[in-house]
Amino acid sequence: MTGRTSLTIVLAAGEGTRMQSSMPKVLHPVAGRSLLAHVLEAAPKGAGASLAVVIGPDHGAVAEEVKRLRPDATTFVQRERLGTAHAVLAARDAIARGADDLLVVFGDTPLITAATFARMRAPLKNGAALAVLGFHAADPTGYGRLLVEGDQLVAIREQADATPAERTIKLSNAGVMAFDGHKALQVIEEIGNANNKGEYYLSDAVGVVRQLGLEAVVIETSEDEVRGINTKTQLAEAEQVMQTRLRQAALDAGVTMVAPETVYLAADTRFGSDVTIEPFVVIGPGVTIADGAVIHSFSHIVQSSIGKKASVGPYARLRPGTSLGEGARIGNFVETKAATLEAGVKVNHLSYIGDTDIGAGANVGAGTITCNYDGFDKHRTTIGSGAFVGSNSSLVAPVTIGKGAYIGSGSVISRDVPDDALAVERSQQTNREGGAKRYREMKTRGKTPKGG
Ligand code: UD1
Ligand code: MG
Repeated sequence: MTGRTSLTIVLAAGEGTRMQSSMPKVLHPVAGRSLLAHVLEAAPKGAGASLAVVIGPDHGAVAEEVKRLRPDATTFVQRERLGTAHAVLAARDAIARGADDLLVVFGDTPLITAATFARMRAPLKNGAALAVLGFHAADPTGYGRLLVEGDQLVAIREQADATPAERTIKLSNAGVMAFDGHKALQVIEEIGNANNKGEYYLSDAVGVVRQLGLEAVVIETSEDEVRGINTKTQLAEAEQVMQTRLRQAALDAGVTMVAPETVYLAADTRFGSDVTIEPFVVIGPGVTIADGAVIHSFSHIVQSSIGKKASVGPYARLRPGTSLGEGARIGNFVETKAATLEAGVKVNHLSYIGDTDIGAGANVGAGTITCNYDGFDKHRTTIGSGAFVGSNSSLVAPVTIGKGAYIGSGSVISRDVPDDALAVERSQQTNREGGAKRYREMKTRGKTPKGG
């Protein structure tokens, strides 16, 4: 909304006891990113858009997540949980700076969209003091009910304070509110706690606004968009809604999926054109798939970049730091990690490729293993372009296989192989003693082997 500044306050001080978890509620993931990250993604960003997050006293991890996602944000600690209005006032200093629009949203409502925030800001521009997001709840039990007269919102009645007649109202408070930022502080400070729970209800802002002779309106949305997460069941339900959205967006962008309902995407998955994803693929955070690439069934991919026309799987596992060049091929039962495979590299069967760089056009035979870990440290393997590694070879890192070199099947390579050399190394005895010697030395120096 051009020209108007905004402050978004995200309430995230809750303990989330019903999640049955030691992790703060808003850090639980949906589609590979935290509930909080989804809310911050939808909130206004850019010039003139500031952000405050209200967290609980023991929520250092939440503060870190805020800092990671929005370094410009301010976090405020609510020391005692006295209600949603009290939580908003924890960010009093930010409100006092007087943005044009003040948006309040809960940190556990990950399906909210940027479009809805924009719709809520529109009435403020036209003079309303408050816009409340409402929805028709299938079962409104527990929600604040919206009391309307014509197109005017007159009050919100919390479940605990509602009359039996009011409890039949289905139009409910989603919890998202947009205030005229220059009047917000006056309104919210006016809210008292004379109710059945003795809490400061933010929903009472509507009554205050009306008493001041100002206007409050309702903006409606679907129940799906405002689902709040309190339990693991609700977390799973939100995941389904989010996956449906992500699959639809991918299909709309031209990704081919014959069984999209079996494909799991992350909120940040990026696709080029003409990408195909076969059934039963799981894509975690940080994945980019370039034009014409094909991901075959039962593959699992995290923090990886897949080049144009590359082919992955079936049954491949791409772990963080994998980068596949154009036309590279990763076949069945291949695991990669921190590995760069340049254009046209083939690793087609039953291999582990970790901490490795492979030059263009190299062929890595079935069952090749990069032995990257000696019990203490990880070491890199380099395979030159056009090299051929015969089946069932072990490359004991740190090691470099030269460009165009040929490694005979079943070799155990623990010394560098020059460019274009032919190496057939089956002196396992020597190699094993080499590794064992270092292992013994490290133990003598009091080091304990770490788990691989
Ligand atoms: C609230 C609304 C209700 C609405 C419902 C929608 C109030 C009084 N009621 O009820 O009208 O229908 O949400 O889901 O606003 N929080 C704090 N500090 C506090 C209290 C709450 O940070 O002192 C945070 C919680 O972490 C949570 C959010 O505010 O993210 C909402 O609090 P919650 O206790 O869940 O309110 P509801 O009873 O669900
Ligand atoms: Mg709630």
